[in-house]
Amino acid sequence: MDGTSLILNSAERTRAAELLARFTDSYENSLTSRPIAPDADRETLAKLLAEPFPEEGLGVEAFFADVVDRLVPYTTTIAHPRFLAYVQGPPNGIGAYAEAIAAVLNQNCNLWQISPAANVIERSVMDWLTGLFAMGPASGGILTSGGSGATKDAITTAIANRRPDFRERGLQENRAPLVLYTSDEAHRSVVKAATLLGIGLANVRAIPTDAHFQLRVDLLTRAIAEDRAAGKEPFCVVATAGTVTTGSIDPIGPIADLCEKENLWLHVDGAYGALFVLADSTRDALLPLSRADSVTLDPHKLLFAPLEAGALLVKDMAKLRAAFAFSSSSSYLTAIDDAHLLDYMDHGPQLSRSFKALKVWAALRTFGVGTFRSVTERCLTLANRLGAHIAAAPGLELMNPVTLTAVCVRMPGRTAEAHAELLTRLHEEGTAMLGPAKVNGQPCVRACVTNHRTTEADIDLLANRLTALAAL
Ligand SMILES: Cc1ncc(COP(=O)(O)O)c(C=O)c1O
Repeated sequence: MDGTSLILNSAERTRAAELLARFTDSYENSLTSRPIAPDADRETLAKLLAEPFPEEGLGVEAFFADVVDRLVPYTTTIAHPRFLAYVQGPPNGIGAYAEAIAAVLNQNCNLWQISPAANVIERSVMDWLTGLFAMGPASGGILTSGGSGATKDAITTAIANRRPDFRERGLQENRAPLVLYTSDEAHRSVVKAATLLGIGLANVRAIPTDAHFQLRVDLLTRAIAEDRAAGKEPFCVVATAGTVTTGSIDPIGPIADLCEKENLWLHVDGAYGALFVLADSTRDALLPLSRADSVTLDPHKLLFAPLEAGALLVKDMAKLRAAFAFSSSSSYLTAIDDAHLLDYMDHGPQLSRSFKALKVWAALRTFGVGTFRSVTERCLTLANRLGAHIAAAPGLELMNPVTLTAVCVRMPGRTAEAHAELLTRLHEEGTAMLGPAKVNGQPCVRACVTNHRTTEADIDLLANRLTALAAL
């Protein structure tokens, strides 16, 4: 390897490709026998951290050896069929290759002139996503780092829409405080975004939910009236389609009616749930998202794109542009109204942007939309199977209606520590990785089937083990 060059020569490229192929193959073939959670002791990790970078490069072989010997043993096996923690699944099979190609091409998806094909591909992905909800002819959107980023950009757009002089005056001046409404089951990214944008925690209302963990529209209506009476300025409701703990879908239709009447921006956080619009059994519950001004969804969840790929969908691209386009920095050649010549830098906070759309486009073309319809339906079926097992099991309580794929389970009468120990035991013995949760103030454990590799046998194994451990 030439000490002054950052280019691999032909032999090195061939070797790197061989090593990569060997790595991906052996990783795939060993998935089910790998520990789900790594045994990452502090000392080993400290050694990795402490090692200085060499002055002279170690070369391609050494890099792959490091990955195999020193990194992989301390990684979590997200692709294990019984990784059922949080809302995360294994990447689809083409994702790694699409990522590699995106890195080779290294398109900067900010101005259409410097990434023409990439920008059109992003547009085609966004058109497909908005089309799933029939969001209308002016709709569109942008790929983001994830759901949290998309929601922050949505609230930014809502503020700019409410206060057209927001750019000049900010929120610093002495005006009626803007108030944002969400539910007490909303993801923390909503409150985080609102506070980062200067709304202030005191102006974020967490409206209580009903017995099915859905936002109570009667209490929302009352809160809006009270805030108006107190001289505040309601501006935005963030409803959730697929709450992070229980997978509940807020009553989007009635909330949309209220937002229309009250002239409020409706954002729907569908990071977890929106893409269940692909599954026959949940499509109708999610189609009302078409009424939202903006929607968050996550291709890195249910399209199984490798991290990171979130998306913000908006009903009116002009509003997104009004929030994010700064004319002084816009391209001198910009043709902003042409779908084929879109400058994404004018539709979000980033200038340099990676070619995230390639991995989404690649998956849709490689596997076909029908495969994603089947896979999402299958995740729902498996979650229902787990829910039915738990409901019938002695010593276990099913804590939520299984609306999507989240299943919360409690051992009645047992402490929070006992539930934490249950989680540790399950992953130490290699049964499954679940996450912690609290439902109705009760500690429980939570399985979320957003995993295209999970099978009926995995679900039955987990259910039987949970039943056995609860009986100890
Ligand atoms: C309902 C909901 N909203 C937002 C998020 C955050 O998404 P991300 O991790 O992509 O930022 C999640 C993540 O699980 C979620 O479930």
